[in-house]
This record gives sequence, C-alpha cells and structure tokens, in this order.
Amino acid sequence: MLGKDLLGMYETSAEDIVTILDTAVGMKKLLTQNLKKLPHLQGRTVTTLFYENSTRTRCSFELAAKYLGAGTVNISASSSSVQKGETLIDTGYTLDAMKNDVIVIRHPMGGAPHLLAKHVKASVINGGDGMNEHPTQALLDFYTMREKFGSFHGLKVAILGDIKHSRVAKSNLFGLKKLGAEVVLYSPATLMPQGIERLGAKVARSKQETLSGANVVMGLRIQLERMQGGLFPSLSEYNQFYGVQESDLAYADKDCIVMHPGPVNRGVELTSDVIDAGNSKITEQVLNGVAVRMAVLFLLVKNRQGGEVRE
Ligand code: CP
Repeated sequence: MLGKDLLGMYETSAEDIVTILDTAVGMKKLLTQNLKKLPHLQGRTVTTLFYENSTRTRCSFELAAKYLGAGTVNISASSSSVQKGETLIDTGYTLDAMKNDVIVIRHPMGGAPHLLAKHVKASVINGGDGMNEHPTQALLDFYTMREKFGSFHGLKVAILGDIKHSRVAKSNLFGLKKLGAEVVLYSPATLMPQGIERLGAKVARSKQETLSGANVVMGLRIQLERMQGGLFPSLSEYNQFYGVQESDLAYADKDCIVMHPGPVNRGVELTSDVIDAGNSKITEQVLNGVAVRMAVLFLLVKNRQGGEVRE
C-alpha cells in the first residue's frame, strides 16, 4: 500500500502504480467535464518547494491541489530563507509547524526528498531530485501509454536522449520493468550510464535497432545544465544521429506514439514535424499530468494516519 510519501518508482510496487493510474482515470473524467472545484482535499494544504526551475510539474501540482479543494503555497529557493542559510530539514520543520499536509519538492541533489521525508510529518512527493528520479513524470507517462495500448505486457518502449542525466529515464525504467514492458535505451556513449543493463534496460547499438517495432518512442531533453561540456559534437549532429526525425519513425510500429516529458528542444531531441504530428502525445501528457497528480495527492492524504478526504 502507498505509504506516507511518494519518493520514487524504485520504492513503489506495481500494485500501487496501478492503483494510482486507476484513480487518475476518474480524476481525468472530472477534469475533462471541467469539474475543477472538488471537495476531496478541502481543509488540506499542499506546498511546492522548488530548488530548480519548473513549468509543468510545479504548475500541475498546484492546479491538481486547487482542483481538489486544497490550499496551496509555492516556495522557490531564490525567494525563501534558504538564501539566508536555512537547511532543508529546518525548512521542513517550519512547514510542519504551520500544519502543512503535503510537500512537493524538486531539488538538484539526488536523495533530498528522502532526507526531508524522514524528518517531517507532512507527506513528501518527489517532484524531481537531481539525476535520480521523477516519479510523477513516469506515472503520467504510464497513464498515457496505458490509455493508448490498454496494457504494458509486450510493449516496447524506446527511450532516446540524455539517459545519464535523466531522472525521467530512471523512473520510467524502474516502473516499466515492474509493469512488464521492454525498455530499450539509446544515446551517445558519453550519455549512457555504465551498467544500466543491470537495472533491466536493453542498450541498443543503433537508432534503427532502438526504434525497430517500438510502440512508444520517447525523446529526452539534452540537459546542458548538468553537463561539463564536450559530451557530443554539436546539436545538429546530435539530432541527426540520436534525435528522432519523421523518417526514423518508419522503423517503429505503425501505431506507435511519440512522447517527451518536456521541455523540448525543438530540432534537437525531436524535429518539429515529429513533435506536432498526430501520433505525438506530448500535449496529452501534460493533461494526464494533472490527473495523475490529483490521484497521487488524493491517495497520499487518504492513506495518512487520520487522513480524511471526501470521496
Ligand atoms: N517534465 C518536467 O519535469 O517539466 P518541468 O521541468 O517543466 O516541470
């Protein structure tokens, strides 16, 4: 059963993943009916505590909390007492003292959400920790795949891009293996973590091998901010050899979908025609992100000791 926190797909069982996805189905129905003043988390407070930039994750958590009736507070490191030297744990104690219920944290250091979760009474949700995990991104990706294909068994998910620096790749890999999908990774050798096969991934040797028969083609952002430089020759060569162009999709399954967690570097990971094509799910992923985050907030608060939610 889901516990107090959601820290990663590594720690989350297949059963809990399915429970979240099933709950998100109902949430998406409410969203698409434009029912955005729901009572489920009335009287609860959700704080987003972001030490790194974000558009999708922060905004969708805030909207998800508001749609469920919770109060919301946004803290960014640049405008908080972190600038005066306050530690992460002391920031957590401060939020607990104010009777805050949930903290969604994004932090450049892997493991920061786990440390915070050990010290606070509030539920902690990992909104992305360094190069470690981004569990709610993976959950919305799973939702999008299941919506299209109905099941994960026999699904080939091809992930191309900056695997080494990608928390999205790791969360997808951990979760998809539990759900029964095949995960094939492809990147320049400098952007592929050594030994990732031991976590269940298949590492492809060519773009054709990666895409051959793929049901899901997922591009990942080149994370220039986490690189020291010199990991590949140029962005245009990157696109040619490791990015996805329309002609590359001929190798994939004819019913394949294209995904990307965003933000996309157009013409680098995916060309514009691939991003804007009919089988691209990139915008749908964003909508599904709100539904999935509503489900996660609802289930965590419901499962807490003394958690009271309106169903
Ligand atoms: N996918 C994702 O995490 O996007 P943001 O950085 O905009 O939150």
